Amino acid sequence: MKTLAFPKNFTWGVATSAYQIEGAWNEDGRGVSIWDTFSHTKGRIVNDENGDVAADHYHRWKDDFALMSELGVKAYRFSTAWPRILPAGTGAVNKKGLDFYDRIVDEALKRKIEPYVCLFHWDLPQALQDQGGWPKREITEHFAEYARVVAGRLGDRVKVWLTHNEPWVAAFIGYFLGDHAPGNKDIGAAVKALHHLLLSHGLAAEAIRAEAKQPVKVGLTLNLNPVHPATDSKKDKEAAKRVDMFMNRIVLDPLLKGTSPIQEAAIANLLVGKVIHDGDLAKIRRLDLLGVNYYSRTVMKHSNKIPVVNVEQVYPEGNEYSGMWEIYPEGMYETLKLVWDYKPTCELMVTENGVPVPDGVDFDGRVRDERRIRYLRNHLAQVHRAIEDGIPVKGYFHWSLMDNFEWSLGYGPRFGLVYVDWKTQKRIVKDSGRWFAKAIAENAVEI
Ligand code: GCO
Repeated sequence: MKTLAFPKNFTWGVATSAYQIEGAWNEDGRGVSIWDTFSHTKGRIVNDENGDVAADHYHRWKDDFALMSELGVKAYRFSTAWPRILPAGTGAVNKKGLDFYDRIVDEALKRKIEPYVCLFHWDLPQALQDQGGWPKREITEHFAEYARVVAGRLGDRVKVWLTHNEPWVAAFIGYFLGDHAPGNKDIGAAVKALHHLLLSHGLAAEAIRAEAKQPVKVGLTLNLNPVHPATDSKKDKEAAKRVDMFMNRIVLDPLLKGTSPIQEAAIANLLVGKVIHDGDLAKIRRLDLLGVNYYSRTVMKHSNKIPVVNVEQVYPEGNEYSGMWEIYPEGMYETLKLVWDYKPTCELMVTENGVPVPDGVDFDGRVRDERRIRYLRNHLAQVHRAIEDGIPVKGYFHWSLMDNFEWSLGYGPRFGLVYVDWKTQKRIVKDSGRWFAKAIAENAVEI
């Protein structure tokens, strides 16, 4: 047995998002979001489930904070719901919506848990989608307005702000693959959406800094994954490179280098015309903090299966898989290295990492999720390896505090350190939750 000690002041946290846990979808003046519309459309979500009630966190938030104290977390990353605060996306502010997040922030601080506020975790007000959504450039101004409103209220207490969660997913799964709201299938729209998400990050960062009454850190989180070729052949290697460009560099280049593969690609210009205006790229690079969300790697081979990029995803045999992805701990290190190779001047953190395994409650009321413990241990060991190699990773947030609504997959995949009984809303801290609490208390992991 070896003990891996983490640096002093390492931030141990858990993450959630508004639509996945809050419920209360039509209470206290909340407006409709694209996820309400999408999940209320038959056939979009497994079993036609939706986030109407979810983990009922809107009513049970105090209990959920008690659970966080039980785990001993130092930080809590959550998102504010844009339609709760600005029901029509812009204009009139819903005071009750802001009050809710005000209470959340106060409760966190009371418990000495640092609140990390994320402004956009995909629940776009439907009214803005009706005006064209993220593919329309005007939305960047609306997002900055929303940021101003939230920072105006919480900016005296919240020190860390994340504008967007995984803009690539919001753009490409929402507007191109169509598996997420709003469910469109238009690659040109997705390319535009991605640029506007990134640009709106820059505008919001400026707004937050202007409104906050103290020095703050502003960043965003990205879904990143190392892309491996299926074989050593030249064709497969090139296929992996194309996917790396399409999934990782397309967001990392604008944020960390001030260039954009979209601007450089002739095909993008053909598809969408000139989407990046002069001066945009300079605005995007307003970053104090970059959050890495790591779950799995991608293995690709050359094929005509997915046109344009000419690739096909491969699932190597003999490896371990969870309910959604391959389990590949080394990918955590590789992803952190991928970002570090850009020589970022901002802080670096793991803002999400977790696994959906089929958890169940045993006869004695315990949830023995040993596979999640193994996942945690092996991924934290890779974070530690990165730190040892000189990559200054400042913290680790586990996805998620508790089981929640997993988007188009509904309530099937369970990601929580805390089990939620969907019939009774009863919470049970899983064995992994206890394991994580011990790691936090000792600031170390035993492997
Ligand atoms: C994500 C999300 C979460 C997901 C998690 C598992 O950022 O993709 O933040 O909402 O639930 O990643 O898929």
